[in-house]
Amino acid sequence: MKKLLKIVLVSSITLLFSSCYYDEFPEDIPVVIPPGQTVSFSEDITPIFVTYNCTECHNASGQNPDLTPGGEYSNLVPAYVNAGNSTDSRLYTKLAGGHRNVDATSLALIKKWIDDGAANN
Ligand code: HEC
Repeated sequence: MKKLLKIVLVSSITLLFSSCYYDEFPEDIPVVIPPGQTVSFSEDITPIFVTYNCTECHNASGQNPDLTPGGEYSNLVPAYVNAGNSTDSRLYTKLAGGHRNVDATSLALIKKWIDDGAANN
């Protein structure tokens, strides 16, 4: 009986530690976009707006900024994007603050695109 107790105790301690490990580990991996990579507004940034259905709310008759395809760039820059300064750009700070749960890779792309000068590329 004592042996059984020991087995239960050891396995629950093992489970406890392994569950903590796997819960926390994946979120700690930082997303790094290679410095040499050019982030493209049309190929990398606007698809994020499509994936997250931003125009459902951000359209001509809805919330600003209007993210309707074709007009996104002029509606974002300079009002919501301070080219070269992501931490002073509402587009980045709003999404980084958790708006719509945008994934880490998309956030990193938006950040790099802004910090690299927010080109209409
Ligand atoms: C379900 C509706 C909805 C969706 C979808 C949505 N938003 Fe918003 N968004 C809002 C509302 C409402 C506000 C204004 C209130 C607030 O600031 O939270 C807002 C605010 C913002 C702001 C700040 C505007 C300001 O004037 O400071 C930005 C930038 C923004 N959204 C970008 C986005 C982007 C990019 C997406 C897609 C990834 C998105 N939103 C998806 C509803 C939405």
